Amino acid sequence: MAEALFSDLNELARFGADKTGGISRTAFSPAFVEAQGWLLQRMAEAGLAVRIDAAGNVIGRHGPQGPAVVSASHIDTVPNGGAFDGALGVIAGLEAFRRLKARGHVFDRAIEIIAFADEEGEYFSLFGSRAMLGLVTPEEIAAALGGKGQSLTEALREAGLDPTKVAHARRSKRDFHAYVELHIEQGPVLERLGRAVGIVTNIVGIEVTEFAFTGRPDHSGTTPLDMRQDALRAAIEFCKACYDLARAADPALRLNFGALSITPKALNVVPGRVVLQQELRHPDPAILSAVAQESWRMAEGCASRLGVSAQWKTLSRDEPAAMDREMQALLHSCAEGLGIEVHDLASGAGHDAQLFATACPTGMVFVQSTGGRSHCPEESSPPEAISQAVAVLTEGLARLTRA
Ligand code: GLV
Ligand code: MN
Ligand code: MN
Repeated sequence: MAEALFSDLNELARFGADKTGGISRTAFSPAFVEAQGWLLQRMAEAGLAVRIDAAGNVIGRHGPQGPAVVSASHIDTVPNGGAFDGALGVIAGLEAFRRLKARGHVFDRAIEIIAFADEEGEYFSLFGSRAMLGLVTPEEIAAALGGKGQSLTEALREAGLDPTKVAHARRSKRDFHAYVELHIEQGPVLERLGRAVGIVTNIVGIEVTEFAFTGRPDHSGTTPLDMRQDALRAAIEFCKACYDLARAADPALRLNFGALSITPKALNVVPGRVVLQQELRHPDPAILSAVAQESWRMAEGCASRLGVSAQWKTLSRDEPAAMDREMQALLHSCAEGLGIEVHDLASGAGHDAQLFATACPTGMVFVQSTGGRSHCPEESSPPEAISQAVAVLTEGLARLTRA
């Protein structure tokens, strides 16, 4: 049985495998669409009724009508990511279903195994689950751009989906009895404590803001430093101010910058315009908002000191979420019944589970990450840790699908 789990993981890792040993299977890319086709087939072979919804979510269902117990994660990756983030949760759900079916489990409630589209936010953070819960507007879809500048609208079309019909993916909260997501930890806590499996208590909130600094392009050799309107210098000073703020704030705050573009692209021109994105994470929504607002003030301050202007816009915000207490207790009791010692921990990564927490009782099982590495080709988990976590998931799904 465990062979199917590991061979499925290996097979899925072929889609989007890149030259560096990593996986580039960003949402709606050809490799992603091929992987969806493979997954649909594996799900159908396991006995699930399969479909892809209007937002590109792969859904496999088994059991009676009525609210379903969902076991979900995602199969898109970050560019040059690893084989476990998301993929493990989807394959684990499928394997758990196969095991339950093989032991003649009676499904009083339906089970759904779901692979959400664009969890990683190539175009739109948690896009698939957001669409399923009716949390994305046509305007947001029209405005979303991918890392390579392609629009979400175009990407959906290329993947065979109709961007005007995404709202059809929406489902009622009453469709969901409970939601469980197995995922790699993506950090070092479980390994440091020598625990294979973790039970998630809460998930951080994430706010992404785009900042644009507009100065004046001038000759780099003839324009004295104090006569420049250097957009890059303003951006650098802004980033430094944010890091200083983060250092002084509480240790739960996370700050990252990326997607930096400088124009014009010439070293003998003072940078005229710089655009960059800032990602903030914190478990407390009020602190997240306060730091975001302080960042706006600092952008304005750094820009005006250098004769540059600053604009910003919030690109996305995923609210922090607490996992359901009864779901945590259920997962604890499943682990205990299997003789597996678990550790309770918070998630610093975002997950589709944080949206489902607003729809139905939601819980997450974490698997130890080797070296705490994730979002990189080196991402992996010990096979024994995977086996233990899948056993906990299987028991959890067994209990939740009995009336
Ligand atoms: C999802 O992987 C995230 O960015 O936390
Ligand atoms: Mn993930
Ligand atoms: Mn990820």
